[in-house]
Amino acid sequence: MAQGWPAQLAYGRIGLRPISVRDAPVWRQIRARNRAWLTPWEATLPPGAGQRPPSFRVTARDLRRQARAGRGLPFVMTYDGRMVGQVTVSGIAWGSSRSANLGYWIDNACAGRGITPTAVALVIDHCFTVVGLHRMEVAIRPENTASLAVVAKLGLRQEGAAPRYLHIDGDWRDHLLFAITREEVPSGLLVRALESLQSQD
Ligand SMILES: CC(C)(COP(=O)(O)OP(=O)(O)OC[C@H]1O[C@@H](n2cnc3c(N)ncnc32)[C@H](O)[C@@H]1OP(=O)(O)O)[C@@H](O)C(=O)NCCC(=O)NCCS
Repeated sequence: MAQGWPAQLAYGRIGLRPISVRDAPVWRQIRARNRAWLTPWEATLPPGAGQRPPSFRVTARDLRRQARAGRGLPFVMTYDGRMVGQVTVSGIAWGSSRSANLGYWIDNACAGRGITPTAVALVIDHCFTVVGLHRMEVAIRPENTASLAVVAKLGLRQEGAAPRYLHIDGDWRDHLLFAITREEVPSGLLVRALESLQSQD
């Protein structure tokens, strides 16, 4: 097994656990209700990829395989134990890099309650302290104000802009790149984020 996987993380009513093929029915229900909410931010296959997007079961199995090989951490985000979204660490690079990308989405019915920033902080802390990563990156379309609010709450640094960075919603889309390294949060990202949120009260 890879270091730090499988993992269960929690803060209050918010939890994270490994994705499972058994999540398929609930995942399909949530995604069907949230199509318009998620489509503008969803990864799509570039022209010439020559295949249809894989089913949830195939994707979940593949993500779990990657996790066992130390290349990703595919979490289901829960609220009071119920699935409400996903936080996915992918593209882990070891060697002298020790970095990874992070993506997330939440059911619109649960949006706006600060669930995602808390879950992302839990995952980044886990990656830094247990998995042994040094740097986490998040790429966000400039139009995605809700996602920009998430990284702002967590104090991730904007490092630059990447034209046509990812194939999203049917085309190559510009992205803003955000990152954080372990040295920036010696006491943990969740602790720092909670402190700054409380000082705004
Ligand atoms: C981005 C996303 C994960 C944020 O999750 P969240 O748990 O709602 O995060 P927060 O509660 O911190 O809210 C973030 C912002 O969403 C907006 N928001 C607030 N209430 C909302 C509601 N009821 N419904 C929709 N958006 C709302 C606000 O802009 C908020 O920022 P603010 O707190 O500074 O006002 C969520 O909006 C989402 O799943 N969007 C679609 C998928 C996506 O964009 N994924 C990220 C790709 S980079």
